[in-house]
Amino acid sequence: MIQLFDLSKKFGPNVALNDIRLRIRQGEFVFVTGPSGAGKTTLLRLIFGAEKPASGYILINAVNLNRISRPKLDLLRRKIGFVFQDFKLLPRKTVFENVAIALEVIGLRPKFVRKKTHQTLRLVGLAEKEKSYPLSLSGGEQQRVAIARAIVKDPLILLADEPTGNLDPQLTMEIMELFKSIHRKGTTVVVATHSQELLEATDCRTILLNRGKISEDTP
Ligand SMILES: Nc1ncnc2c1ncn2[C@@H]1O[C@H](COP(=O)(O)OP(=O)(O)O)[C@@H](O)[C@H]1O
Ligand SMILES: [Mg+2]
Repeated sequence: MIQLFDLSKKFGPNVALNDIRLRIRQGEFVFVTGPSGAGKTTLLRLIFGAEKPASGYILINAVNLNRISRPKLDLLRRKIGFVFQDFKLLPRKTVFENVAIALEVIGLRPKFVRKKTHQTLRLVGLAEKEKSYPLSLSGGEQQRVAIARAIVKDPLILLADEPTGNLDPQLTMEIMELFKSIHRKGTTVVVATHSQELLEATDCRTILLNRGKISEDTP
């Protein structure tokens, strides 16, 4: 469970999030939407522990992110997958290596890492591209590598920032199906998006942000 209590975040004089109160239960599928600059990315980064709030606090499974030590935060992050808007793929590593690295840093056994990485790349439809390098892939394929890397560790929580950013409608729906299948396994999924296509095609809970405030929350 993710709980936000009176959460605010500022960048200098700029208020990115203003007094957010929010509860996302384990296993929920939630969209966070709103215009550019509304605070979507900042919200995901705070939940990931990548930013510190100006005030308020976040509990993830009852653990307060303000009070957590660095080693404990690293442990917690093993349970959180993050799909970055700009993918953050390593250009000199193959598709396989880009995904496997998420398990290697946890220190899992090489045999398990190989098996799980193959399995996840099959799931996202990239089995044939394992030996390719990210820059030789299409945007949609790079996106799926980023998703594979986020889900390979079977996270409890999946955070995705504009995961269908520049994709055509067909690919957008394919990525959504992928998120839904991850969700069916019990993962909490939080997707930040301004895509009307996605939002119109869903009946999931949608949180609308406007200038750092929640202006709508439709279950
Ligand atoms: N690193 C940063 N430095 C300064 N201002 C930032 C930074 N990150 C975000 N902001 C500001 O915070 C507000 C919310 O940004 P962001 O969370 O990126 O919105 P969204 O993802 O909804 O487009 C914006 O006004 C943005 O300019
Ligand atoms: Mg953003």
